[in-house]
Amino acid sequence: MSDLIRRRLLKGLLALLGLFGGAVLLDIWSGARRFSEARWQRLLPIDQLPPDGVVPLPQMKVALLVSPKKIAAISLECTHLGCLVTVNERGFYCPCHGSEFGPRGQVYNGPATRDLPWHRLRLHHGAIWVLSGRKQTSPFWHPREESPA
Ligand code: FES
Repeated sequence: MSDLIRRRLLKGLLALLGLFGGAVLLDIWSGARRFSEARWQRLLPIDQLPPDGVVPLPQMKVALLVSPKKIAAISLECTHLGCLVTVNERGFYCPCHGSEFGPRGQVYNGPATRDLPWHRLRLHHGAIWVLSGRKQTSPFWHPREESPA
């Protein structure tokens, strides 16, 4: 095998290794990013909850649905293009293009076609925490009481 062929093979092999290494690094980076986007955020102290109703927290892009026995966190991000929905007497309303959602986030009128998603939540150290960055399609109801550690 001539030197020229050997050099070309070596260059090709190095290029392949570079591509493979780049792909591995990209995968690690995107996985780490996905993991870091989901994090627990403190919303408010448990004793500030009303006995019943909806507590919008637009700065956190969630609303708490509160009943005497349980709590759930629904996303306030419209499933059409992500505008912040507001709470009204029928449920939720998106001021950007007029989508309407029911009291449990179900689509009443488009252009949105998907229900509002939900967040996991937990009660910890006297406060309500929500898992942001990761949403689910069904509600996650948590008892109003903080479970003993
Ligand atoms: S972003 Fe809400 S209806 Fe378009």
